[in-house]
Amino acid sequence: MPGTFASCVLTALLLSLTWADHHHHHQESELSCHKLSSPNADFAFALYKSLNAQTAAGKNIFFSPLGISTALSMLSTGASGETHSQLFSSLGYSTLNQTQVNEAYEHLLHMLGQSQEHQQLNLGNAVALHSGFNPLEKFLNDVKHYYSGEMFTVDFFKPQEAATEINTYIANKTHDKIKNMVKDLDSNTVMVLINYVYFRGEWVSPFSSSNTHKEDFQVDENTKVQVDMMINTDYYTFYRDSENHTTILVLPYKGNTSMMIAMPDNGKMKEVEGLINKDYIRHWHNKLLKSYVEVHIPKFSISTGASLENILKEMGITDAFGDNADFSAMSDNVELKVSKVSHQAFLSVDETGTEAAATTTVEVTTKNLPFIIRVNQPFLVFILERSSRNVLFMGKISDPTAVGNTGTGISKTVALEDQS
Ligand SMILES: *[C@@H]1O[C@H](CO)[C@@H](O)[C@H](O)[C@H]1NC(C)=O
Ligand SMILES: *[C@@H]1O[C@H](CO)[C@@H](O)[C@H](O)[C@H]1NC(C)=O
Ligand SMILES: *[C@@H]1O[C@H](CO)[C@@H](O)[C@H](O)[C@H]1NC(C)=O
Ligand SMILES: *[C@@H]1O[C@H](CO)[C@@H](O)[C@H](O)[C@H]1NC(C)=O
Repeated sequence: MPGTFASCVLTALLLSLTWADHHHHHQESELSCHKLSSPNADFAFALYKSLNAQTAAGKNIFFSPLGISTALSMLSTGASGETHSQLFSSLGYSTLNQTQVNEAYEHLLHMLGQSQEHQQLNLGNAVALHSGFNPLEKFLNDVKHYYSGEMFTVDFFKPQEAATEINTYIANKTHDKIKNMVKDLDSNTVMVLINYVYFRGEWVSPFSSSNTHKEDFQVDENTKVQVDMMINTDYYTFYRDSENHTTILVLPYKGNTSMMIAMPDNGKMKEVEGLINKDYIRHWHNKLLKSYVEVHIPKFSISTGASLENILKEMGITDAFGDNADFSAMSDNVELKVSKVSHQAFLSVDETGTEAAATTTVEVTTKNLPFIIRVNQPFLVFILERSSRNVLFMGKISDPTAVGNTGTGISKTVALEDQS
């Protein structure tokens, strides 16, 4: 029976998101969204390969490729010159212009935003703006219009309070699955771009919890762990690709999404990961056959987190992070760069279905650290009247907390000095 999925499960990328496009009716939207599905899938696999290269063996990888593409596209609306070209070519959008990409996201967000009875999929964007920082009107309008971006102001001079406000916002959007997204914010941050994806799907064919029992899961040659294995027997679509050493199984959710599991044969993970790209997924999708299958799927819940700066640099997005950064379409009076790109994701699979969430944040800071002046030792003070050039008041403040020097100066002509 080919349906016993008791060993390695390849990361269940939320691929359904990029494939969902095909179900759409509206002609214009279909064309527009379709423009993104192929470059976004290539970006997803390129990102997977980079993440995998820097992830220790035996560790999980889970992320939302669509979430990261969306956050970087929003960033690129504020980029110009070489900074923009690098973002666009790494995202696979070289043949498109920013307007086309923006319109495609507008359609995609609109399409995914239509809620269904048994499936919840929320993809959204926001910008946390520093109070007192005024980005160009066009940038804000594009983010609001095309990316449905919500704006809120925070005070980055109080980095901890700002982080708390941003994290509260993200926790709310991800149903508390991602609670501590940003920390250690720079006090010269002016903006944090936020993307969140939240998904909750119910299996078309739920598992019965009375069937769930402990089974081995072979992490690698030498490591076995015990998992809660869920078991169900029903008609499922699957494909056994012996040439490419992989078994494919699709578990549909109610609505328009499904989970595709691609499990390489014992010892073949590295080989399959090395080859895999969107054409494999498409090929496997086309080969699926429905059959009566007993499936064994682990019940699990994982969280992952990654800093993406180095990976994005390797992928060709370099200028955005350095002194060459050109975000002149965001602000024409303050020089900006990206200091951090972070991603966190969550996945939980149980008898009833799946819950998954991911957040991407892009922290935008001023290029130069502000010059800090702390008046924290005794100082001289003068209050000057400009037109007549008179010194109205003057003094020396040795201890700003010593308030009680009544009588000082007024009745004594000797010296206007502190008598304490
Ligand atoms: C973007 O490309 C479209 C289609 O080729 C074209 O109609 C539009 O004028 C271009 N927009 C910009 C801003 O270059
Ligand atoms: C799901 O697909 C159906 C038909 O294929 C379509 O009518 C519906 O709008 C889709 N829902 C979403 C959220 O895309
Ligand atoms: C998020 O906050 C809004 C407004 O306070 C509230 O109505 C909503 O239920 C919250 N959502 C979640 C998932 O907690
Ligand atoms: C193995 O993968 C390649 C590339 O997707 C495909 O052309 C080939 O048909 C696959 N083999 C089988 C048996 O499906």
